[in-house]
Amino acid sequence: MMIFETHAHYDDEGFDEDRDLLLMSMQENKIGYVINVGASLESTRRSIELAEKYPFVYASAGVHPSETAELNENNFEWLRKQCVHRKVVAIGEIGLDYYWEEPAHEIQKLWFSRQLDLAKAIRKPIIIHSRDAAKDTYDIMSAHGAKETGGVIHCFSYSAEMALEYVKMGFYIGVGGVVTFKNGRKLKEVVEAVPIEWILLETDSPYLAPEPNRGMRNSSLNLPYIAERIAEIKGMTYDEVISVTTENAKRMYQIEC
Ligand code: NI
Repeated sequence: MMIFETHAHYDDEGFDEDRDLLLMSMQENKIGYVINVGASLESTRRSIELAEKYPFVYASAGVHPSETAELNENNFEWLRKQCVHRKVVAIGEIGLDYYWEEPAHEIQKLWFSRQLDLAKAIRKPIIIHSRDAAKDTYDIMSAHGAKETGGVIHCFSYSAEMALEYVKMGFYIGVGGVVTFKNGRKLKEVVEAVPIEWILLETDSPYLAPEPNRGMRNSSLNLPYIAERIAEIKGMTYDEVISVTTENAKRMYQIEC
C-alpha cells in the first residue's frame, strides 16, 4: 500500500540541490502521492510546474496568511485561473497566522475569506493553515460555509475538542512530525480522539522533521515515523494506518487511481 503525502513544499529552495533525485526516489520508497502545497503566488506557479512534471505529484493553489500582503485584484484573478488546472486538487494553504505581527489581521481575514469563497465557487477542498488564531479561523469558516468545500486543517495545533468540531464540519486533521516529539502531548490527545477515518499524514517538508530526524531537513521519506507513532497511539497496525489514511486523502482530493 502506497503512502499519501498530503502536505509538502518541494518548490522550497532547501531542495534546490537534489529536488529531482529526491522526487524520483519517492515511489520506490512507497510514497505514492504527493500534494505540493502553494503558499504564495510564486510557489503556486512552481507547485503546478512540479505537478506537470511528475505524474504522482499534485498541486494546491493558494496564498498563506503570512504572504497575503502580496495579493491584489489583478493577481487574485491570476490565482483564480490557476485553480482550474487539471492537477490543482485544492485551494491552500490559506487561513490565519497571528503568531507573526504582519500582515495585519484584517488583511489576513480579507484574503482568507476571498480564497475560501473561490474554493466554494470552483468546488475544491481547502487546506487550512491556522496558528494562534483558533476562534477567528473557526468563525470565518462557519460564516463562509466551509462545510461545502471540506478539506484539511494542516499541522493541527489546537485541542482535541476543537479537532472534533472541525471533523463535524467535514474537515480532516493533518498530523505530522510533531506527533513524534516528546512535548507533543496535545497532538497525541488529538490523535486519540479523532477517528482514523479523519486523519491525514503530512510532513510540511522541508520543515518539522519527526524524531529521530528532528531538526534536519524534512522529506516525505520520513512519513513512516509519523505513521508508526499514530499506529502506536491508536493501537492499530502500521499497514492499517497507511491504508486508511491513503484512502482518506484520495477521497478528500478526489484522486481516483
Ligand atoms: Ni505548509
